[in-house]
Amino acid sequence: MLEDFFKHQAQTTPHPLAMQVQRAEGSYIYDTAGNAHLDFVAGVSACSLGHRHPRVVSAVKKQLDSYLHVMVYGEYVQEPVVTLAKKLAEALPDPLDTTYFTNSGTEAIEGAIKLARRVTGRSELIAANKAYHGSTMGSLSLMGFEERKSAFRPLIPDCRFINFNHFDELEKITTKTAGVVVETIQGGAGFIVPEKGYLKALSARCKEVGALLILDEIQPGFGRTGKLFGFMHYDLIPDIVVMGKGMGGGLPVGAFTASAAQMKQLQDNPKLGHITTFGGNPVIAAAALATLEELQESTLMADTLKKEALFRSLLKHPLIKEVRGKGLMLALIMESAEIANTLVLEAQKAGLILFWLLFELKAVRITPPLTVSESEIRKGCQLILDLLEKIDKK
Ligand SMILES: Cc1ncc(COP(=O)(O)O)c(C=O)c1O
Repeated sequence: MLEDFFKHQAQTTPHPLAMQVQRAEGSYIYDTAGNAHLDFVAGVSACSLGHRHPRVVSAVKKQLDSYLHVMVYGEYVQEPVVTLAKKLAEALPDPLDTTYFTNSGTEAIEGAIKLARRVTGRSELIAANKAYHGSTMGSLSLMGFEERKSAFRPLIPDCRFINFNHFDELEKITTKTAGVVVETIQGGAGFIVPEKGYLKALSARCKEVGALLILDEIQPGFGRTGKLFGFMHYDLIPDIVVMGKGMGGGLPVGAFTASAAQMKQLQDNPKLGHITTFGGNPVIAAAALATLEELQESTLMADTLKKEALFRSLLKHPLIKEVRGKGLMLALIMESAEIANTLVLEAQKAGLILFWLLFELKAVRITPPLTVSESEIRKGCQLILDLLEKIDKK
């Protein structure tokens, strides 16, 4: 299997971790040699309810017994999709009441930027340096990291960049701007949380000049920071919310939500201006609905903040310079990229899954399932401390 993996499956790096997966359950992934790996990454913030959460599995099975794909997006009335859209509208503040479903996060970003252009009739898009919004050409154009995108130029024109948390740069957003796209909490940049008042000031500036504020909640959304969406901590309402990852309970999904009046603009002139075959797939929607209901009916979201406090109290070591992030979107900032790298690789050997961040190479990602237990947190943190002791002595 390993040989075929390297020979026939396209790779994204020269050195993938290449764990051979047998099965996964709760906070653990089991490899084909029978080893259990405690998962502190959750498929990169995607498996928010852990692996194979019973409520998600049962909803998917039920839907499998009724119907799978029946029609392209938006033509037929399919119960799990409509119910999910309605529940999202109820959970989001007014006027965010209409959701377009996609197959991935990056596609949802593409839809959101097209919507911003349609609504405003303007073309300029503004994003943040060190932002990651996905790998398709539109999202890539908004990636604020030249090294990783210059090979793919020319990208879409009229994209400009500001530095996240720099209040003095908000004036770069003008009456020429169609939309400003930022992650509510910057991920790849190093789990940078917005400074007090920053998102509110960003929102106010967008309103002043008539630009749409598009918040990328693909990673912080769906409970990871203690509320359903990260922006709910910061006293503002964006024009478009983009979601994905944890929304699907382990299945591929994306969506963007806006007001009905704005979303209507994608229907016409031209009609079929934004279409997808599989977006809004009923099986995925059933999984997402089960995930949303579990989050809303359990104490998982509130517990996230208690679990954050536990992680922060345990992860104290001279090699850890800082613990950044919010809720269960945490990053250990190490003394050097080399230490971060060694820790991730040694942890894998020791049965603990950690991972890197895209642009902040000194960071080690800790984004476990929200269902992670206190004893699993203690066990994983002890392992990290033991490994750091060994690394320190080398
Ligand atoms: C903040 C953010 N936006 C967008 C994306 C892209 O989502 P997807 O990989 O589902 O296309 C990601 C994925 O890592 C992300 O973290």
